[in-house]
Amino acid sequence: MVNTPVIELKKFQELVDGTLRSYFPPPDRHVHRIRKAMEYSLFAGGKRIRPILCLMACKAVGGGVNKALPAACALEYIHTYSLIHDDLPALDNDDYRRGRLSCHKKFGEATAILAGDALLTEAFSLLSRKEVMKKVPAQIRIKVIREIAGAAGIQGMVAGQEADLEAENKKVSMAWLRYIHNHKTGALIKASLVCGGLIGEGSPGEIRALKKFGEKIGLAFQIKDDLLNVEGQAKIMGKKTGTDEEKAKATFPVLIGVEPSKILGNKLLDEAKRDIRIFGKRGQSLIEIGTYILSRDR
Ligand code: IPE
Ligand code: IPE
Ligand code: MG
Ligand code: MG
Repeated sequence: MVNTPVIELKKFQELVDGTLRSYFPPPDRHVHRIRKAMEYSLFAGGKRIRPILCLMACKAVGGGVNKALPAACALEYIHTYSLIHDDLPALDNDDYRRGRLSCHKKFGEATAILAGDALLTEAFSLLSRKEVMKKVPAQIRIKVIREIAGAAGIQGMVAGQEADLEAENKKVSMAWLRYIHNHKTGALIKASLVCGGLIGEGSPGEIRALKKFGEKIGLAFQIKDDLLNVEGQAKIMGKKTGTDEEKAKATFPVLIGVEPSKILGNKLLDEAKRDIRIFGKRGQSLIEIGTYILSRDR
């Protein structure tokens, strides 16, 4: 893989994949198709950035990586649901995702909607289960649930998705564009970091640092997604390029240009690195993922 950071992204992707497999809901005699659809989208080779950020944040505050694995998987369930719904004809109407046909193209719209619903619900089921969230005290489990619910719902990703659709074919201000990106993408990324910190029982100051880091990395992540849509290679990315222009989406390259978008991404990364200086060596993996977020080609 190109751009592989030193933290061995692949090793952690495999750890997340294996754990996701182990949590996958058992078969049901009557309901096959939706499980197939969930599995199809979940195990299509996503980068697992959100779960890995969660694990690395836990490590940064001195917690064991394994303690954060269930929450990491719940975050990937929610992210995968958001991609399935994002690709639906009523939203972005995209036919390819993660290198294969998008969920609704393969299984039909009804099943894709339900698969997304099920992944979202299953995420909160995982987070609430004591036997799964082993060693995470109940009061921390509640904080984690609240953080993720806030990031995924009407104060987070769902609001961002609505704002993204509203902005199609419109000339948007910088403030509006930042709102869209911070909500549709940044919120879940920030929550991944905060939850890792909470599970690792970080101090309030450490959680604040992760939050600030997450805000900047989250925005940088979506700026890079915008840039890849303009200059990336569909074959490597596993999804079509040029679609933002086709749909007249509000993006950073459109609003400020390609080069200024790259400069802004780098500026955000530099600031983000400064935000987590308090972790010293323990924050190194976070810095490496931050760097990967901007250098990635998929
Ligand atoms: C794509 O996310 C959608 C955005 C929120 C920008 P990723 O780039 O993390 O997609 P996967 O999980 O690797 O497929
Ligand atoms: C996706 O944003 C955001 C969510 C799924 C919440 P985009 O629509 O810009 O991402 P891609 O380019 O389709 O992956
Ligand atoms: Mg979208
Ligand atoms: Mg999309």
